Amino acid sequence: MRVGLLTGGGDCPGLNAAIRALTKRLLLQGDAEVFGFEDGFRGMIEGDVRPVTYRDASGILTEGGTVLGSSNTADPFGYRSGEDVSDRALDCCEELGLDAVVAVGGDGTMAIAHRFQERGLPMIGVPKTIDNDLAETERTFGFDTAVSIATEALDRIHTTAQSHHRVMIVETMGRYAGWIALHAGAASGSDVILIPEIDYDPEAVAAVCRARDEDGQQFTIIAIAEGATPKGGDRIVQDTVEGSPDPVRLGGISGVLKEQLEPHVESEIRTTVLGHMQRGGTPTAFDRNLATAFGARAARLARAGRGGRMVALQGGAFTDVPLEAVAGKTRTVPPDDALVEAAQAVGTSFGTAETAPTRASSSS
Ligand code: F6P
Repeated sequence: MRVGLLTGGGDCPGLNAAIRALTKRLLLQGDAEVFGFEDGFRGMIEGDVRPVTYRDASGILTEGGTVLGSSNTADPFGYRSGEDVSDRALDCCEELGLDAVVAVGGDGTMAIAHRFQERGLPMIGVPKTIDNDLAETERTFGFDTAVSIATEALDRIHTTAQSHHRVMIVETMGRYAGWIALHAGAASGSDVILIPEIDYDPEAVAAVCRARDEDGQQFTIIAIAEGATPKGGDRIVQDTVEGSPDPVRLGGISGVLKEQLEPHVESEIRTTVLGHMQRGGTPTAFDRNLATAFGARAARLARAGRGGRMVALQGGAFTDVPLEAVAGKTRTVPPDDALVEAAQAVGTSFGTAETAPTRASSSS
């Protein structure tokens, strides 16, 4: 059998582990070939494709990024100036005689995969993204690594916060979901965690900073997701990228919060935007193993001729779900999330009067 493979959207740690797993699982039986498209769907549109050998898939488990390249601006249904070039991509797959295409990606990639499936090309999705915001799976690979990096950054920021008695604001990625800020904020014992799912009140955040000063702690650590918004305010858009399935690029809310707090807080305030650092470098053991399990399961689906599915993790077990259940959806932090409740229980503020700690104390 012949299987196409691409990695689409923003890169994240674990992509190479997934490429390795899928390729090795298919090639080990000696009756399959894998064709890798360069730079996601761009390779499928432009016919930029190469065989992926067992050797290509060896020695890449621990490497960040993707050996196939990726793109988040190559939508075959709206390419460059918006042209629908999906026929070109389908022709390319037909010429190669592909039985299925495995698309490793986030929500944008899954939406495109679903459209190709509807056009008759068997597509199998593998969920990746540091944002952890794909529907129907409780984990995407890349997230655990991003949380580790953000947690380490927040831990290190503590030193300067304590030494200089400052308010330190650390902005994480995550788009419209607060998973990274929530998990890294909780793991680092941040005093305030601000996520898109809970609009924050600047005055409530300032009250936490003041209370900590009065209590003698004299520093405050705030983890804020790039998609967080003040009550009645808007998301802060840093950029728009033409040709991207979601052209909006968020960023800059930490600077806005600094300005909101300054009139109400005596301490100095500093901001750190973690940015793409959260997507870089070697994956954690968890992400390597998750990507390996996802990749191997995707190979099984391809062999079984089960297109139109995305591999997933549900209730701690590996499964697969229809692509149509994932396309166009975002999984955000639910209001009753267990980690939100646990963080609140130890005095962490989520930036509202209701979530303010009852006693000025660090949760760290
Ligand atoms: O979806 C992953 C992600 O890193 C988001 O957290 C972030 O908002 C976005 O991609 C950044 O995109 P780009 O790499 O195009 O700047």
